[in-house]
Amino acid sequence: MTDVLRLTAEETYASELEALLEDSGPRPTGWRLTPKAVLTYLLGGQAPGGAQVSPKYVGARRLMETAVATLATDRALLLMGVPGTAKSWVSEHLAAAISGDSTLLIQCTAGTDETQVRYGWNYAQLLAHGPSEEALVATPLMRAMREGALCRMEEFTRLGSDVQDTMITVLSEKVLPVPELGMALPARRGFNVIATANNRDKGVNELSSALKRRFNVVVLPLPASLDEEVGIVSRRVRELATGLDLPVPRGVEEQIKAVLTVFRELRSGATEDNKVTLKTPSGTLSTAEAIGTLVGGLSHAAWFADGQLGAEQLAASMVGAIVKDPVQDKAVLEEYLETVLKKRNAYSQYYGALNDAL
Ligand SMILES: Nc1ncnc2c1ncn2[C@@H]1O[C@H](COP(=O)(O)OP(=O)(O)O)[C@@H](O)[C@H]1O
Ligand SMILES: [Mg+2]
Repeated sequence: MTDVLRLTAEETYASELEALLEDSGPRPTGWRLTPKAVLTYLLGGQAPGGAQVSPKYVGARRLMETAVATLATDRALLLMGVPGTAKSWVSEHLAAAISGDSTLLIQCTAGTDETQVRYGWNYAQLLAHGPSEEALVATPLMRAMREGALCRMEEFTRLGSDVQDTMITVLSEKVLPVPELGMALPARRGFNVIATANNRDKGVNELSSALKRRFNVVVLPLPASLDEEVGIVSRRVRELATGLDLPVPRGVEEQIKAVLTVFRELRSGATEDNKVTLKTPSGTLSTAEAIGTLVGGLSHAAWFADGQLGAEQLAASMVGAIVKDPVQDKAVLEEYLETVLKKRNAYSQYYGALNDAL
């Protein structure tokens, strides 16, 4: 038991990573694991010694193969997709498996400037002793280059275009120029960049074509089928509930299925049987939001409902996820309740609870 709220991937799955070290095949210089072992770590399976490895990403093997293979080349990896498709999650696990460190991370925003990407200066040092290597303040990118590790850049397209383009030299020449010292810091083998970007947000800055050439893009899709999504949500909800000391009641699977059915129908704008078309709400209603809704429901159930999880405990979180715009989205949900859920006997409790929560 630890009092740390969230452990890193390499801490949480330390024993799996340890077991996978035994894969003795060839590996790219600077990598802790072989590419095959990295894939097993991501998709689950068996370590060479027979230890069981849990799946982290559920989805097409081909996508993860491309991601891992890309990182072994001189091109960087760009994970794209709508919010909640596990871009950050996959990036964290890739860094944990390949470099043993997922914490070299830059959260990019419109306000991120060059000094937060490349390096800054310790002004006390600078004034006292003039410019020197000791006066540099290393960013996660600089540390990754020094150590030969992976650097994660979250929400890369939120960076201003000029700041984005400072990455061109880093990615093509594999050096970080420090003109003030008349030097360039070379990257050690094992260094690469995993960027994530979501293609839903407004106000993003498209990559320049010079930069695009340095990235291989892997698009992470929303889960294709209801069963697949139920599997993902149920695994993650159990893991998160354990971390929060929340009991998971029996029959939780059934509630997950109900929540996801509603989310998927609203997301796709049609009922599962494709007979009724629906208006879609403004948010994405991603898998990540379904996970959040269920964990919220479990907390409600544990503290206020004697551990009973049903429509009543989940409705408020569901409405919170669906209604992002108080006027438009509310109308969308009302219409869905009246035209679809009202007619489904199995959903009568959800019909009532959602109406009450709205
Ligand atoms: N295909 C998937 N396989 C495993 N987990 C998934 C999948 N899709 C979503 N998730 C879960 O949903 C959450 C995704 O969150 P995150 O990685 O922050 O999304 P993004 O960065 O794409 O917005 C994670 O907790 C992850 O476990
Ligand atoms: Mg993310």
